[in-house]
Amino acid sequence: MINKKNKVAFFASGGGSNFQAILDKINSQELSEADPVLLISNNSKCGAVLKAQEAQVAVAHISGYTHKTEEQQAQAMVQVLQKYGVEWIVLAGYMKKIPALVLEKWKNRIINIHPALLPAFGGTGMWGHHVHKAVIASGVRVSGATVHFVDEIYDNGAIIAQKSVPVFSEDTPKNVAERVLVVEHDLYWRALQGLLSSKIYLQGSKVYGDIQ
Ligand code: GRF
Repeated sequence: MINKKNKVAFFASGGGSNFQAILDKINSQELSEADPVLLISNNSKCGAVLKAQEAQVAVAHISGYTHKTEEQQAQAMVQVLQKYGVEWIVLAGYMKKIPALVLEKWKNRIINIHPALLPAFGGTGMWGHHVHKAVIASGVRVSGATVHFVDEIYDNGAIIAQKSVPVFSEDTPKNVAERVLVVEHDLYWRALQGLLSSKIYLQGSKVYGDIQ
C-alpha cells in the first residue's frame, strides 16, 4: 500500500539533530508518510540550515533581520508555508514563539519536542541546559522527552508521546541532555508517523493512540 505523503515543514534554530533524525527515517522509508518540503529558520547559519541544504530541502530564513516587524515575519511564514502546501509543522529546536497567525492556520497541526517529561520542567525559560539543570536540582530520578501539540502557551499543548531516561546521582546537565537527545531521536519520528497515519489523533484536548 502506498501511504499518503503529508507535506511537512520544519522550524529550527540550532544544530538540527532532531530534524536530521527525522530526515533519516524518511530516507530509509520507515517514515514514508512524510514529505519534507521546507525548513524555516531564524538563523541562516545554523546547523539545521546546512542539513536542509545537504538534503535538498527548501530553506526560508525568516527573522528580525529579514522582516522588521513580527507581523511581517508571520505573514512571510504563512506565505512560504502555503507556497509549499505545508500540512504539518514540526518544531525541531526552534527558539522563537510561533506567531498566532500560524497557530491559527495550522491549528492542531504543529508539534514540538521538549527535553523533559512535561508538564514538569516546561514553560518560559525552560529550554536547553536550563531544563536539565532544573531536573538535577529537583532530585528527580527520571527525565525524558515529550512530543506535544503546540498552542499559544509554551510547552502546554496536549501530550502525544513520551519516553523516559534515568537520572543518576553523579549526572551533570550535559550528561542528561545527551541521554535525552538519544531518546528524542527515536521518539519524534514515531510520534510524527502516528499522527500522519492517523493512528494517533487529537479529540478535544486528549490524544488517542500510541506510538509503535
Ligand atoms: C532538543 O533538545 C529539543 O528537545 C529542543 O531543542 C533541542 C534541539 O536539538 N526542543 P537539535 O537542534 O535537534 O539537535
